[in-house]
Amino acid sequence: MRIDVLTLFPEMFSALDHSILGRATRKGLLDINVVNIRDFSKDKHKKCDDYPFGGGAGMVMMAQPVCDAFDSLGLDGDVMRIYMSPKGRKLTQSLVKELSAYRQLVLLCGHYEGVDQRALDLNIDMEVSIGDYVLTGGELPAMVLIDAVSRYIPDVLGSEQSTVDESFSDNLLEYPQYTRPQNFRGLEVPEVLVSGNHQKVDEWREKLKLEITMKNRPDLLEKKE
Ligand code: ADE
Repeated sequence: MRIDVLTLFPEMFSALDHSILGRATRKGLLDINVVNIRDFSKDKHKKCDDYPFGGGAGMVMMAQPVCDAFDSLGLDGDVMRIYMSPKGRKLTQSLVKELSAYRQLVLLCGHYEGVDQRALDLNIDMEVSIGDYVLTGGELPAMVLIDAVSRYIPDVLGSEQSTVDESFSDNLLEYPQYTRPQNFRGLEVPEVLVSGNHQKVDEWREKLKLEITMKNRPDLLEKKE
């Protein structure tokens, strides 16, 4: 999958050079192209923001550098162009799955009080929010989206990892996990997990998934089919 990111802070995306996403990039499964919007500023000081028409606090990202950055990508075909914004559609596991089907994503990261609406009208297919809180910019949300979507690209996760049996896959949260030693600081691993009885283990895990979901996210139980 190809992902283009338009941002004023390209250095932030070095976080994606590590761990599973770094490996996916080196293997050619993921191609992340970070574009500095500032390179498209026509101002001698590379300014990309200006005062809002109508007044109000803060600055607005100008349409021209954003639109020229989009034009430079020469987009066509199976592309989804996304603006990261607290006003957007909430990023859920099902939206993540939907987005993973595209050949190419373009992510626009806003800063200041937002982006001139005309740049959005001309270039954006969907606005996406990572949750009901406001961050200082769209860079961290873009990285969250990239991480979540990349897990669905074939071969990105090793055979020991999987998107099948995990939180949200059946609208329930994940059961707790344990590894050696069997006794740690006086705390024993639940007996059933060392019993060797696979049916009992499955029953215990299902029960714990329900309990944890009921405690932390009862809203998910209403959505369960
Ligand atoms: N930019 C600022 N806050 C955001 C959020 N919650 N989701 C996506 N983009 C954002």
